[in-house]
Amino acid sequence: MRLLVVCLGNICRSPVAEGVLRARIEASSLAGRIELDSAGTGDWHVGDPPDRRAIANAAEHGVDISGLRARQLAALDYRDFDWLLCADKANLRDVRARAPKGARARSALLLDWCNTVTDGEVPDPYTGGPAQFEHVFQLLDRAADGAIARLREELGLRG
Ligand code: 4NP
Repeated sequence: MRLLVVCLGNICRSPVAEGVLRARIEASSLAGRIELDSAGTGDWHVGDPPDRRAIANAAEHGVDISGLRARQLAALDYRDFDWLLCADKANLRDVRARAPKGARARSALLLDWCNTVTDGEVPDPYTGGPAQFEHVFQLLDRAADGAIARLREELGLRG
């Protein structure tokens, strides 16, 4: 199962989501079964590490995202991933608008997919402060619980 988390810049929300989901999945019975990546709909930060506030906040929670580098969503992602999981509704709209003909990947709001909140968005913390980054982390940490439950179900695993 291959999951791609998508936000706007791929330096705040989606790298944190990638880091938290990877850490939680690898510590679960799903270890080794799920491939994760993240991307941005925009190209402003391609090649950059995550925002330093996102790195610092994740590190406070024991998650190291400093080695990640931003990339832009590409046409091949629609072939290579099972799910494109979006941080907010604008991201989801952009992802759907860019879908190439015959795209295989399905798309959803990340928090919906994880059964965390219906119609829920991960708010962009880029222009905010530490409290906004902490809120994003908490949302994504809860989402990881839901992701693990859903993945276990989809892969027919118990416990
Ligand atoms: P992200 O946050 O989508 O969570 O990575 C943003 C990062 C950069 C910009 C916007 C949002 N930007 O406009 O550069």
